[in-house]
Amino acid sequence: MYILIKNGNIINAEKTSKADILILDNKIVRIAKNISVTESTQIIDATQKYVIPGGIDPHVHMQLPTPAGPSSDDFLSGSIAALYGGTTTLLDFVTPSKGQSLTTAIKNRKVEAEGTLTDYSFHVSPVEWKNTTGQELKDCIKNGITSFKVYLAYKDTVGLNYEDFYQVLKFVGKAGGLVTIHCEDGDKVEKLRNKFAEDGKISPEFHAKSRPAEFEALAVENAIELAKKAGCPIYIVHVSSELSLKHIEEAQRNGQIVYAETCPHYLLLDDSRYIGNFSETVPYVISPPLRTKTDQNALWKAISKGTIFTVGTDHCPFNLKQKSIGVSDFRKIPNGAGGVEHRLSLLYTYGVLQNKITLNKWVDLCSRQAANIFGLKSKGEIAIGKDADIVIWNPEFENTISVKNHHQNCDLEIFEGFKTKGFAETVIKDGNVVVEDGKMNNNVSKGNLIYR
Ligand code: URP
Ligand code: ZN
Ligand code: ZN
Repeated sequence: MYILIKNGNIINAEKTSKADILILDNKIVRIAKNISVTESTQIIDATQKYVIPGGIDPHVHMQLPTPAGPSSDDFLSGSIAALYGGTTTLLDFVTPSKGQSLTTAIKNRKVEAEGTLTDYSFHVSPVEWKNTTGQELKDCIKNGITSFKVYLAYKDTVGLNYEDFYQVLKFVGKAGGLVTIHCEDGDKVEKLRNKFAEDGKISPEFHAKSRPAEFEALAVENAIELAKKAGCPIYIVHVSSELSLKHIEEAQRNGQIVYAETCPHYLLLDDSRYIGNFSETVPYVISPPLRTKTDQNALWKAISKGTIFTVGTDHCPFNLKQKSIGVSDFRKIPNGAGGVEHRLSLLYTYGVLQNKITLNKWVDLCSRQAANIFGLKSKGEIAIGKDADIVIWNPEFENTISVKNHHQNCDLEIFEGFKTKGFAETVIKDGNVVVEDGKMNNNVSKGNLIYR
């Protein structure tokens, strides 16, 4: 079945053009002016609209297990929210329990992810170093899972010490993979948060105070140094602070491969959100915490300069009931918040329309770079032979983000009240129209697990 998208403004990371796009099955087969059609072609008029490659969110946590229960979006609900927002590919995580092999953890995660409606792939987290881990990492790469995730925080559960982290870097570097890193110095955080708790400082505000930018920057600095020694490319997730950017910029200037990601919440929300009562402040208990307006400005600047390559959401929502487990102790509050649905509209509204980024940069940040960095070769671009993952963006539509109208399965919304312009009016995934006039079709078929 052919689909023809007519008269749209095609926005790729490198250039903008006006042409028709012909789709056959799941691929883009022709891009040209005035393509003529046969009777069996579905025509979509994209006049006055932007036609962009489907968003790729490189950082989401669906159904993440925590002591407060799993994050509230499972792969089905989270991928529905993603599609509504114009994101057609998700990169989630495989997080083994201690003692479990990576192979078993991958097998189990695949079962959990079976209901995903977007295409998807995984980063795998080594949560300990055993004498079998090196071989397991190599096997992952051989089997098409080429990116890994190390947490330098959360050391009582999934975090690694610097020594074990170095082992991971050495093996992955040698095998040609990429290590992504949650950078916060776990020991320093642990000490400070315990000190606050001992002093009776137990409200969400102290979650933020126990994870200062200096601890993030220290972990960034150490990670960069170890990666250099190990000869391994790295990708620093959810960069939130100006201090961290300084280390990243320096490493990049020296020719080291250090990619950086930030998230919409670090660009648009600040630490004033920690002033208030428990229910007002608890939605913002995320790690790293929200920073200052100065950090926000530095992040926008780093995007312009190209220091930051991608914007991921770190989508990891929890309901108020789950967050309330830490009402008398911020250390028990599950860390994370939702956002997978809003990434494109927030960056369009507060980036493109405020002249902080161009339309092409928007596509680069939300799709193209993630495709390049994580080896999603058939995605991230509107070009002949690429997957037909396409969003038709209506630039005029206005919305106010709210828990009342979002599709994320969560009773909290950190962007509540944010006004947005532009939305994913039509979403085509693998050559199928899945969202039409802003409404999801019935019978959307399951997404593909992508090996890289
Ligand atoms: O607070 C966050 N970011 N939760 C999700 C897990 C992580 O650290 O990325
Ligand atoms: Zn993290
Ligand atoms: Zn995360």
